[in-house]
Amino acid sequence: MYQLTDVTKTYTGKRTVHALQSVDLEIGDGELVAVQGPTGGGKSTLLQMLGGLDRPTSGSVRLAGDDLARLGDGALTKARAQRIGFVFQHYNLIPTLTAAENVATALVPAKVPAAERDRRALEALASVGLAERADHLPGELSGGQQQRVAIARALVKEPQVLLADEPTGNLDESTRDEIVELLEGLWKEQGLTIVLVTHDSAVARRAQRRLRIAGGKVTEAA
Ligand SMILES: Nc1ncnc2c1ncn2[C@@H]1O[C@H](COP(=O)(O)OP(=O)(O)O)[C@@H](O)[C@H]1O
Ligand SMILES: [Mg+2]
Repeated sequence: MYQLTDVTKTYTGKRTVHALQSVDLEIGDGELVAVQGPTGGGKSTLLQMLGGLDRPTSGSVRLAGDDLARLGDGALTKARAQRIGFVFQHYNLIPTLTAAENVATALVPAKVPAAERDRRALEALASVGLAERADHLPGELSGGQQQRVAIARALVKEPQVLLADEPTGNLDESTRDEIVELLEGLWKEQGLTIVLVTHDSAVARRAQRRLRIAGGKVTEAA
């Protein structure tokens, strides 16, 4: 699935920050990987590299053989639209669109026809247990439900990988456990590859594999 070779990300501004330093990492198909580490350690930067949201300063980030660091802008946008699902801490739903519309919108960049978008959006909402909330606006949903919509929005693309940055960071413990169980179920039933950034050890313990990133360096955690 992923093969990272000597990946470095340096931010240069008033001061220079080495957010990732010589990262070598392989993530296999169907793995559920948790990434933990201190604030500022490089977790989000790593996820941005995996997701093609930004490019490394040097090194290669291969997704099923294609180096995201070297794809042109158009090809990278296409990879994000079709191959990579994202879930964020703050859900990032569009408040004026219903749950179904939020999910369907994820298929616009891939130029999926409208009727198919709507059908797939309802399927994806059903797969996260929210079929009956399809016509609700985000503001009418609980935090846990909004995060389910965000997960449906990621899944509707039928991505090769789901990348989640602190997906339970805003949720109380019982809702957190529901979301983790949902992700675990998707992983088991659909064989999805999931990379989950969390600072919550209770979440990380559920993963098959745990990585730690601190000071821009990745290590395997027991
Ligand atoms: N866009 C950016 N510009 C400059 N520095 C950044 C940027 N994004 C992250 N950093 C810096 O890179 C380091 C790693 O940040 P980040 O990957 O967000 O860590 P984490 O998600 O583990 O808290 C930090 O020192 C942070 O301040
Ligand atoms: Mg972060």
